[in-house]
Amino acid sequence: MEKKSKNNKKPSNISNKLDDWSFKDAQKLFETKEFPFKADKTYFDDCISGMKKLPDDSIDCIIADPPFGLSFSGKESVYNRKNNFVVDGYEEITDDYGKFSNNWISEIPRILKPTGTAWIFSGWTNLRDVLNAIDHSKLNIVNHIIWKYQFGVFTKRKFVTSHYHLLFLSKTKNYYFNKVLHYPLDVWEIKRTYNPGQNKNGTKLPDELVMRCTDFSTKPGDLVLDPFMGNGTTAKIAKGTFRHFLGYEINKNAKKTITHNINSIKNGELFTSFNERSNVNSKTN
Ligand SMILES: C[S@@+](CC[C@H](N)C(=O)[O-])C[C@H]1O[C@@H](n2cnc3c(N)ncnc32)[C@H](O)[C@@H]1O
Repeated sequence: MEKKSKNNKKPSNISNKLDDWSFKDAQKLFETKEFPFKADKTYFDDCISGMKKLPDDSIDCIIADPPFGLSFSGKESVYNRKNNFVVDGYEEITDDYGKFSNNWISEIPRILKPTGTAWIFSGWTNLRDVLNAIDHSKLNIVNHIIWKYQFGVFTKRKFVTSHYHLLFLSKTKNYYFNKVLHYPLDVWEIKRTYNPGQNKNGTKLPDELVMRCTDFSTKPGDLVLDPFMGNGTTAKIAKGTFRHFLGYEINKNAKKTITHNINSIKNGELFTSFNERSNVNSKTN
């Protein structure tokens, strides 16, 4: 059902198919939602065995940023940051990336609700394994999005990689999609963020990028699963926008950082209705 914010008529850059909620409505949806298991929880465990324990048709949205299989330790200093603030124990995939991808992606169709969607991040080197695993799982590829960031690692004899692939998948054709922009393109230019002096795992996604995923594919009160939490970016955005979360992280050293990031935000602290957001944009443009 479509709900609109009380004040003002819809600005022209907002689509007609927009679902929108006032802060109060969003809060109510969040607070009254019940689950047959404990939500808003991080498991410091392997996501493959964790996902196997989740009930069928229980998740609204999955945001998955797995290790890319690049012999990355999470401590590389290529992104202009000091290594002593980077969390130890990042778990890379050292054996067969295809098998690893099949193992976790094959759990998605069972646990997603029929209206559910999944976002999977991938670098280009192992993209074929991810696409093959998606094919085997019978998920639909709705979009293949390119996230373009502002720079990559210096190279001498090849082009500098400055993009990730983002696969937007659905379980059925009847998936939830909130068209929050009138003309949403499949190339997203979003800057990587640096928070000098804060502990983090070196592959943190920008909050803005994760929020774009949840804006388009979830409603307040929905349950968002992140199988590879890293710094807990998905959980933080979910909590801050009145969504519930569940997450797995195999690296127990990340506990302090994830807990800190989730506790640093109050329920709904980042929530603003789309109507209010576009009013702010039209005033500042
Ligand atoms: C690319 S990082 C995720 C970064 C995250 N999106 C963020 O914004 O902070 C991938 C994470 O997956 C974790 N990981 C690797 N294998 C895992 C597994 N089988 N289950 C759960 N977590 C795993 C790694 O330790 C690493 O922290």
